[in-house]
Amino acid sequence: MSSCHFLAMTPRWFIALLLGLVRQGSSQDDDCTVGVIGESAVLPCTYDGRRNLPSSNISVQWRSETEEMFRRTWSQGLDDTTNMPDSNMPDSSRARMSTLAPQTRDFSMTLSDIVPPDSKNYSLHVSFDGEETSSVLCTTCLRVGAHFSFPVIQRDGPSLEDEPSLEDGPSLESETRFVCHTRGGYPQPTLHWLINATDSPALGAVRTYSEPLPDSELYNITSILTVSIAKHTPVACAVENHVLNETFSTTNWPEEDQFSPVVARASEAMWFFSTVLIVIVGLLVALGTIFQVKWDRERRRPRLHREDSDSEDTDIITVDLEHLEHLDSLPETDV
Ligand SMILES: *[C@@H]1O[C@H](CO)[C@@H](O)[C@H](O)[C@H]1NC(C)=O
Ligand SMILES: *[C@@H]1O[C@H](CO)[C@@H](O)[C@H](O)[C@H]1NC(C)=O
Ligand SMILES: *[C@@H]1O[C@H](CO)[C@@H](O)[C@H](O)[C@H]1NC(C)=O
Ligand SMILES: *[C@@H]1O[C@H](CO)[C@@H](O)[C@H](O)[C@H]1NC(C)=O
Ligand SMILES: *[C@@H]1O[C@H](CO)[C@@H](O)[C@H](O)[C@H]1NC(C)=O
Repeated sequence: MSSCHFLAMTPRWFIALLLGLVRQGSSQDDDCTVGVIGESAVLPCTYDGRRNLPSSNISVQWRSETEEMFRRTWSQGLDDTTNMPDSNMPDSSRARMSTLAPQTRDFSMTLSDIVPPDSKNYSLHVSFDGEETSSVLCTTCLRVGAHFSFPVIQRDGPSLEDEPSLEDGPSLESETRFVCHTRGGYPQPTLHWLINATDSPALGAVRTYSEPLPDSELYNITSILTVSIAKHTPVACAVENHVLNETFSTTNWPEEDQFSPVVARASEAMWFFSTVLIVIVGLLVALGTIFQVKWDRERRRPRLHREDSDSEDTDIITVDLEHLEHLDSLPETDV
C-alpha cells in the first residue's frame, strides 16, 4: 500500500515540477523582477556611462518608493568601510551589493527573505566625487509571489437520494460536487474549472474560498463546483498564479483508476523517474552486497578485531538509511 501511494503520488509531483520549470516565464508584462516569498531576488542595475569608475569616489543608494534600503561608497574603487549600513535603514541587513561594483559596473542589489510588501518600485541613485546632487542610474520593480501546491480534486458522487431509480446506465445526469484544493501560495490566484476539457461551468455553480494562513501572507484556496454532468465527464481545476506566471491543473477522470491517466500523460516524466528509481535501487543493492561481503569477512576474523569493524559497519548502515530516507521524502514534500 505504501509503495503504491508512493508511485501514485510521484507523477503529480513531477508534473508540478516540470510545469513549474516550463511555465515560470521570466518576462512579466511590466518587466518587473519576480521574487518568491522567503527567497532572494536580484534588482538589476548596470552602469553604462563613460566615467572611469575605479578612479572615482562613488556613493550609491538603493531606494524603494518609501525608504532608503541600502547605501555604499567607494573611494577610488575601494569599498569605503567607514560608511557602513546604519540602523536607520531597517532593510539594509537584507540587502547586498558587490563590493567590486566599480570594477564590474554591476550595481545590482540582492534582496533576501522576500516578503509581500517588497512588491514595489526601486531606484538606484548615484553621486560622484562628493557632488551634492545624485542622479538616478536605474529604476526597476519587484513583484512578489509564492508557489501554490498542485491542486487536488475530490469528487463527491451523487448522494443516494439523488441516485436515479431507473436502470438507465451511466449517461444519466445527477448533481455531483467537486472540491478543488491548493495551498500555500501568494497572491490570490485565478481558479478555473473546465468540464469535459472545454466548457466553463455556469455562473453560480462555483464557490471559491481563500483562507489566509496564520503568520504569513499565504493562502489556501478551496473551490467547490456543483454540477449535473454525465458520469464519465472529466473535470479539471486549474490554479493560475499571475505573478509567477505559473498554472497548475489537475483533471479528475471518473470511473477509472484515478491515477492511470496522470501516469499516461506523464509518460516522459514517468520514464525519467523509473530510470532514477532503478539507479537508486541498483545503488541500494550494491550497498547491500558490499555490506554482506564485509559482514561475512568480519565474521571470519578473530574476535580481537571486532571493535574496529563495528564502527565501519555502522557507517555503511547510515549511508543506506540516508538513501532510504531520501527516497521516502520525495513524494511527501511537493504533493
Ligand atoms: C508566461 O510564460 C509563458 C511560457 O514561459 C510565456 O510564453 C508567456 O509570455 C509568459 N507570460 C507572461 C505574462 O510573462
Ligand atoms: C512603478 O513603476 C511603474 C513603471 O515601471 C509605474 O507605472 C508605476 O506608476 C510606478 N509606481 C509607483 C508607485 O511609483
Ligand atoms: C576621493 O576621496 C579621497 C578621500 O577619501 C580624496 O582624497 C580625493 O581627492 C577624492 N577624489 C575626488 C576625485 O574627489
Ligand atoms: C465531451 O466532449 C466530447 C468531444 O469533445 C463529446 O463528444 C462528448 O459528447 C462530450 N461529453 C459531454 C458529456 O458533454
Ligand atoms: C491549508 O491546507 C492544508 C492542507 O492542504 C491544511 O493542512 C491546513 O490546515 C490549511 N490551513 C488553513 C489555515 O486552512
